[in-house]
This record gives sequence, C-alpha cells and structure tokens, in this order.
Amino acid sequence: MAGHDRHNFAFDFELVVKYKVLINERVVMKMKVLFIGDIVGSIGRDAVEKYLPRLKKKYNTDVVIANGENAAAGRGITRNIYNDLLQMGVDVITMGNHTWDNKDIFDFIDDADYLIRPANFSSDAPGKGMVQISKNGVTLSVINLHGRVFLPPHEDPFAMAEKLIEEAHKTSPLVFVDFHAEATSEKIALGWHLDGKASAVVGTHTHVQTADARIYPNGTAYITDVGMTGPYDEILGMTKESVIYKFQTNMPSRFEVPKKGRDVLSGFFVDIDDKTGKARHCERVYINEDYPFQA
Ligand code: FE2
Repeated sequence: MAGHDRHNFAFDFELVVKYKVLINERVVMKMKVLFIGDIVGSIGRDAVEKYLPRLKKKYNTDVVIANGENAAAGRGITRNIYNDLLQMGVDVITMGNHTWDNKDIFDFIDDADYLIRPANFSSDAPGKGMVQISKNGVTLSVINLHGRVFLPPHEDPFAMAEKLIEEAHKTSPLVFVDFHAEATSEKIALGWHLDGKASAVVGTHTHVQTADARIYPNGTAYITDVGMTGPYDEILGMTKESVIYKFQTNMPSRFEVPKKGRDVLSGFFVDIDDKTGKARHCERVYINEDYPFQA
C-alpha cells in the first residue's frame, strides 16, 4: 500500500512537471513588438544602441522593427548601417520616400532579408514590401506602405494592404503595418480601413510623435506617427539654421543632419495576442533628457 502511495506521488509529480512545462510554453507564445520611429543619422543610430537593450528588457520584446530610411545622414541606408542595426537588436527595417537616396541600397537590397521598402512602389522596384519573422513559434508579418497625399504618386496603398494582409493571413493572423505618409487623414483612414485585419498600423515620416495611440474596436493598435529617433534640438532632425533660412528666404538651402547634440528616441510598443492577432495593449515610447527613460 505504501509502495502504491509512492507510485501515485511520483505519477502526480510527473504530471505537475508536465503541466508546468505546458504553462511555460504557453507563456512564451506571445508577440510583443517594439517599433522605433525614423532613425536619423549617427545621433539616431547611437540612441538606438544606447536605449534598445533597456527597452527590450522593459517590454520583454520579441520583435523590434525600426524605420531606417533616414539612417544614413538623413538620406537612405547603407549596407553597413543595415548590418549595424541588426547587430544592435533590430529585427526588421522599414523604409519610405528616401529609400533610394543612398545608391548603396541597389547593391544589397536583394540580399537584405529583413529590409523592406514600401510595397506599393512600382513593380519594377527592387526589394520587397513584406517580410515574415518567427519568434518562439509565433510568426509576424511586417508590411511597409507609402502614402500618396503630398508625396509622389504610388500604387493604391489601401488595395496593396488588403492584398498583402490576405497573403500574410495564410501563415499567421499577426500583421504589423508601417504606413510612411505625410497626411494625418490618410494615415487615420488606413488605420480604420485595416481595423480587425492588421494587428497594428503605425504612421511614420513626419518625425513628430502624435498623442493618439489607441486600439481600434476590432483589435488594431494604431498611432498616426511614431515620431523620430535622432537629434533632439533641431528641426525634424535637420540643423535648425538651414531650415529657418529656407523658410525666411525661400532660397535653396542644404539641409544637414548634425553629428553632435542631444538625442531623442521615439517608439511604439504593442502586445499582440498570438492566437487572434489582435492587439491587447499599446503605448507610446518617448525618451530624451526632458522625458528620461524609466525602467
Ligand atoms: Fe520620410
């Protein structure tokens, strides 16, 4: 009888261990995503290097996405910068209207597995507009789109979004969209249009973070613009003097990205349900000397 009791105890213990393993497996089945807004120049890249390890710890992130279209001195991206950002812990890099500004990109875009450019560029454009990344058994599709208001004409971003999301959903319901656009109305319109289809729709390009982070009724996390990661004391990342001169005189003025100065990191965090693809929580991230990092 005593032996039988011991056997039961051993059996129960084994069950408990198995149950704990299952619980742990369920716990890691999550998808927490941090998006870093437009990285501008070396100050922006240094800010990512400085803050990303702390942010990853704070938010327990699975995937980090960053917009890198201004990463090379404000204009495009180079192969070295792409590699450096991956080294720093960025998983996917998105682009925008400055995609082709640094000619280096034509040499490596087709080899850069985790670099995407707006999907609604011409079908002749090299590169791709969507990538899928898997972490802890959960797959997230990341899509980059370009606005058409106050910007060069491209294909319809709404139709392209629907087409790509349908494709992405064949693999996983988790979809993250970076909509690089100028007009707030166009960005809000796409956010509502994709409510319930995408897990998150974030705007980029204006370099100023908006205060409207929210989750729409059908589960799409949304912010009109994530803001910029770069020089804090300049104008959208460009030296103040050159921009002010341009406004005063309407004369040609070369906008430069400063190499020294205080930094700002702007981001957006979203926690996505790994089963439904719906956002559970989202919040703005904004760090600089006036709003220091808080663990
Ligand atoms: Fe842009």
